Amino acid sequence: MSRDGKVVTMSQESQPATALAEAAATAGHAPSVHNTQPWRWRVLPDALELRSVADRQLAASDPEGRLLAISCGAALHHARVALAAQGWRAVVERRPDPRDSELVARLTDPDRVPADPDAMRLVQCMQVRHTDRRPVSDEPVPTTALEQITRAVTDEGGRLQILDRDQVLELAAAAGQAHAVEAEDPELRAELAYWTNRAGAGTGLTAEVLPEQPPQTTVPGRDFGRPGSLPIGPGHDQAAVYAMLHGDEDVPDGWLRAGESLSAGWLTATRLGVSVVPLSAVVEVPGTRQTLRQLLSGIGFPYLVIRLGIADPAHAGPPHTPRLTTAQVVDTSAVR
Ligand SMILES: Cc1cc2nc3c(=O)[nH]c(=O)nc-3n(C[C@H](O)[C@H](O)[C@H](O)COP(=O)(O)O)c2cc1C
Repeated sequence: MSRDGKVVTMSQESQPATALAEAAATAGHAPSVHNTQPWRWRVLPDALELRSVADRQLAASDPEGRLLAISCGAALHHARVALAAQGWRAVVERRPDPRDSELVARLTDPDRVPADPDAMRLVQCMQVRHTDRRPVSDEPVPTTALEQITRAVTDEGGRLQILDRDQVLELAAAAGQAHAVEAEDPELRAELAYWTNRAGAGTGLTAEVLPEQPPQTTVPGRDFGRPGSLPIGPGHDQAAVYAMLHGDEDVPDGWLRAGESLSAGWLTATRLGVSVVPLSAVVEVPGTRQTLRQLLSGIGFPYLVIRLGIADPAHAGPPHTPRLTTAQVVDTSAVR
């Protein structure tokens, strides 16, 4: 079911196509850079295709498609989990056709298996997971939670490096530099303005999810170029943990796996009551991406930085960010 409450209906109830369509619709909850939702699903009688949508790629800040692929990877992981929760298993082919770069993944050979209770819990987490940009509370993130989140990331082929105090200070300097570079670039500013002024479009960031003033954080959050209306309170996120998602190769396959890992880690964090905020400006700007690489001591390539923490329990967080309707992202014309 989609966040807009529409159930996907088809003439062939309980056929694989019904489960595949349902999984694709559930994947609409996935996080994406600037809420671009740069994906489109095609349901076939015995397969599901995930395609990236070039129109919703950030041409100025993400020309290589790194964040687009991470976003699509998150949607792919959501769909895989949703299928498992319904009691289906499928073979996943990632980037199956080298001549068709927009074909991100194909799920084939759907088969019935017992419904997976862990996957069912994660589907519930998909419905409540969101990005809360307020400073986190003073409550520390339990070490066991960090271990479980790291394991969820690793199980999906990614790696997560928790940054130490000195590395966080270097990250803070790099984030400041990345924001300064992006603020000076008219194309980047225009792109951000476009994605933060999309009221009613079902994509982009609404004022309600953006802080009304820059929160006090060790590592500055992204400067969205406009104040929002989310009250942030007086806190400073001293207890926040910063981590870097990284992998062996700076190529689309690695980015896609990073997205699946991000989704797995974020849903696990949600289950454990840990809030996650991705920070991607440092990865978008080539110079600061290089700084991140040095923080990894050359053992990999940075894909995304995330902030982890326990959200302020005393005040309500932001509302959910809007989504495109299921009909806009899931094409069921081949099975109707
Ligand atoms: C690849 C990627 C990069 C992101 N970068 C940032 C970022 O730099 N700053 C930020 O505040 N949120 C960032 N986000 C969070 C998205 O803005 C958020 O997922 C999207 O608006 C949907 O909202 P939701 O997570 O509340 O469902 C990023 C998300 C993804 C998947």
